[in-house]
Amino acid sequence: MIVTGFDGSAAARAAVEWAADDALRMNTPLRIVHAVDRWPYQIAKFPPPEWSDAMEQAGEKLLAEAEGIVRSRQPTVTVETRLIEGSPALALREEAVQAAELVVGSRGLGGFAGALLGSVSMHVAGYAPCPVVVIRGERGPVRGEIVVGVEDSSDCAPALAYAFEQARLRGSTVRAVHGWQLPVHVYSPGFVYDLDDIKNRQLKAVTEAITAVRKEHPDAIVVEDVRQQHPVEALTEASKQADLVVVGSHGANALERALLGSVSRGVLHHAHCPVAVVPIA
Ligand SMILES: Nc1ncnc2c1ncn2[C@@H]1O[C@H](COP(=O)(O)OP(=O)(O)OP(=O)(O)O)[C@@H](O)[C@H]1O
Ligand SMILES: [Mg+2]
Repeated sequence: MIVTGFDGSAAARAAVEWAADDALRMNTPLRIVHAVDRWPYQIAKFPPPEWSDAMEQAGEKLLAEAEGIVRSRQPTVTVETRLIEGSPALALREEAVQAAELVVGSRGLGGFAGALLGSVSMHVAGYAPCPVVVIRGERGPVRGEIVVGVEDSSDCAPALAYAFEQARLRGSTVRAVHGWQLPVHVYSPGFVYDLDDIKNRQLKAVTEAITAVRKEHPDAIVVEDVRQQHPVEALTEASKQADLVVVGSHGANALERALLGSVSRGVLHHAHCPVAVVPIA
């Protein structure tokens, strides 16, 4: 099952459309969830009962709208709706436990104007136990390319598996992007690197990192793309030509187990197309 969170915003509408298309491709039902957070700021300890009814009705109306989007876009997809009371982030995270994929918009109705990512999408991208697709960017023409961030670490295996499977379902190319930079040596500026040697080794590491997944997908068309750039820059740049960018929730040096690795966080903030964050195993 695919789950999508709907709050009535334009981004959430785009998320419902994405989820409907994925449900068709992945041949799985779709569940649309709206969480009614009655008193997020504890404004009222004893709310008048008619307020609750009004909120519930508004929630059902939203869900009916979202269901309508799915029915007109992908009429063969099985769709159900669910109204949940509580915090949207926690509700979606719980729903994600049974889901193959969770789809949300990068923004919702709340937040402040300049925010690049809402708190709900940030939370679920960091905590959901399934891949989370965050819809962002203008919807452009189909590019036929899925970008995946590659590191020489087995931690990126789930992200690679997701990216190759999405590419297979869509008949798209996979672009395996690895960004690397020289370390900044403040105290030894005279240190000289053999750049060609480093580049060759980076490329070899990428080839090795994707060997296993390529065996699973022998027909996949893959471009190995090593760039001397910060990984966030490299992936953001590549996202301009992609339908989806796939990253792992954490990288190899997730020392402190922050909510999200710095690369995933950066890509979620800056990518020009939807981003899938895949939890590491
Ligand atoms: N009440 C909700 N029920 C279900 N899904 C929701 C709800 N609120 C948000 N979402 C999902 O999360 C996505 C991002 O919204 P989010 O709430 O994170 O951003 P925001 O409203 O701009 O900022 P914030 O709420 O953090 O102030 C939405 O596009 C939607 O998919
Ligand atoms: Mg919100």
